[in-house]
Amino acid sequence: MPNDRYAAAPKLPDGDAIEPALLVPGAPGPIELEIGPGRGWFLVERLAAMPDVGVIGLEVRRKWATIVDDRLRARGMGERGRVFAEDARSALGRLREGTLSTVYLHFPDPWWKKRHQKRLVVTDELVVQAGRVLTVGGELFVQTDVMERADAYERTIAESGLFAPIFGGGPRVEDHPFVARSPRERRAMADGLPIARLRFRRVVVSPP
Ligand SMILES: C[S@@+](CC[C@H](N)C(=O)[O-])C[C@H]1O[C@@H](n2cnc3c(N)ncnc32)[C@H](O)[C@@H]1O
Repeated sequence: MPNDRYAAAPKLPDGDAIEPALLVPGAPGPIELEIGPGRGWFLVERLAAMPDVGVIGLEVRRKWATIVDDRLRARGMGERGRVFAEDARSALGRLREGTLSTVYLHFPDPWWKKRHQKRLVVTDELVVQAGRVLTVGGELFVQTDVMERADAYERTIAESGLFAPIFGGGPRVEDHPFVARSPRERRAMADGLPIARLRFRRVVVSPP
């Protein structure tokens, strides 16, 4: 029998120009997006540290979208933080343009075998969509412990033409200023694994 325990997982409202501010009406400040929050601790820690900020998560696994969304509500953060059971590759295009201050991708795409290629989250198209939903000056942050992936992300993001490194020395940074850490980030740090972290900002693109 199919497991439909999470059949009622939270979904984005219908429509193709969803206004993120309406999803987190209790956030007076900027709205951020995490793609693939998994067990969701980055979201919880970020909301706890930044009382003005709203954070939306798009998590393809219905189970974790449900658990984390419930947890946010139970902690009194449900008006500033939501997680929706959505595939970010299709859902991102349904959010209104220029509405988000930061897009986080913490440890996406942990697979490196060829047969897993079709599951990849960070594609050319997703990067373009991330550029579309960010405000000009908004940040795209990506971190991973798969070094080949970091190289590919850096190329894909740079080649989109929509982003520039936040700092003059290039996109790679030792650490980030977000106060919160994702579960996989904590594990990688505890295991002493190298982590590649990339910080880009959305730039204005002049017409050709
Ligand atoms: C390796 S886990 C990392 C989880 C978390 N970001 C962390 O750093 O601990 C990747 C997460 O991305 C989610 N994911 C994979 N493909 C996705 C997609 N197309 N849309 C949204 N989430 C996705 C997975 O279900 C999983 O929760």
